[in-house]
Amino acid sequence: MTSRRVFFLTPGVAAATLKALPKRREDLPTPALIVEVDKLEANLAKMANHLKAAGLAFRPHAKTHKTHEIAKMCQKAGAVGSCGAKLSEAAALAEGGATGLLVTTAVIGRDKIAQGIALAKKRPETIFCVDQAQNASDWDAAARAAGLRVNLAIDLWVGRRTGIECGAPALELARHMSRLKNVRLQGLQAYSGPSSHRRGFEARTAASREAMGEAVETRKLLERDGIACPWLSGGSTGTWNIDPGIDGITELQPGSFLFMDIDYRRIGSREGEEFNDFQQALFVICTVVSRPKPDLAIFDGGYKAFAADRGYGPELRGRRDVKVGFAGDEHGSLAASGAKAGDRLEFVVPHCDPTVNLYDHMYAVRGDEVLAAWPISARGKSQ
Ligand SMILES: Cc1ncc(COP(=O)(O)O)c(C=O)c1O
Repeated sequence: MTSRRVFFLTPGVAAATLKALPKRREDLPTPALIVEVDKLEANLAKMANHLKAAGLAFRPHAKTHKTHEIAKMCQKAGAVGSCGAKLSEAAALAEGGATGLLVTTAVIGRDKIAQGIALAKKRPETIFCVDQAQNASDWDAAARAAGLRVNLAIDLWVGRRTGIECGAPALELARHMSRLKNVRLQGLQAYSGPSSHRRGFEARTAASREAMGEAVETRKLLERDGIACPWLSGGSTGTWNIDPGIDGITELQPGSFLFMDIDYRRIGSREGEEFNDFQQALFVICTVVSRPKPDLAIFDGGYKAFAADRGYGPELRGRRDVKVGFAGDEHGSLAASGAKAGDRLEFVVPHCDPTVNLYDHMYAVRGDEVLAAWPISARGKSQ
């Protein structure tokens, strides 16, 4: 198969260290974050086709990949746009050409709203979430001063993280917003994190039906009150085959399905103990740098190469029997693996989103060939 060799670099990003794109996977300097493009494309096509068949819009969450090239790839596959967890994440994606952005965390404070207005000028279709009347009023005042009408959505508290409570509190906020002239209420956003990672398909189904059911009821409440609410966005990788069965959700915003990780694999699927609905596409390549004892090998990836928030380390690809541990910020350890200095090893990451945030770029590979170094353009953009 022929493939394009494209080398993207954001000005200033790793330009000094990445003078030339290595041609082969085995030549990549380690630790190297890689994405296997065949698997990425298959995961994307599976989700896009599934949601299209279910009649739902698809707005993948870019908090996972933080990479404008992938955001644009998703749009080519049928996504209406991308979600950004924070304003700066969405702005970085827009800078790289992504459109149809939904900022899923409320933008609070005068300076940030001013930056939000700048994004709304550049991408007028952007939707910003709010969960407080004062924040909606602040948006309205800033939009009026800029001569704009800004799209807002009400973030509902179904995930026990952010948002306003469903039912009467959300209705009251919607009524307040409908009186503001320079904001347009787009609809509701409801992300239920506890449902997405609930272990076992039955338990996950029950959790999502309960959480998203409250959001659907709130949508109906607004409409009975005469407030148009044509849009309800939510869902995740874990509920990808549950939420389309909940009448009233109009859009799904999954993220991790593109890459996958150990954490998601553990939630179990409809078919069995493991969630393998999507393929593992993301890996970190490391090199064994020391072998202090015959049964101990040390490789060049530690806490700075793998996010350790889940409390466990990475997994040696295809060798779940090998015990892998952290040996500090820069190093990891392998017990009784037979690995020796110079060996290159590939690892499955514990948690994809925060691991991606540790790298300046990810290498897109197809088989042994390195196609591109995609800048992780929203890396560190958590403001
Ligand atoms: C608001 C919101 N929507 C969607 C997602 C996507 O979830 P997942 O990566 O589990 O598919 C997340 C993940 O944390 C999120 O915070």
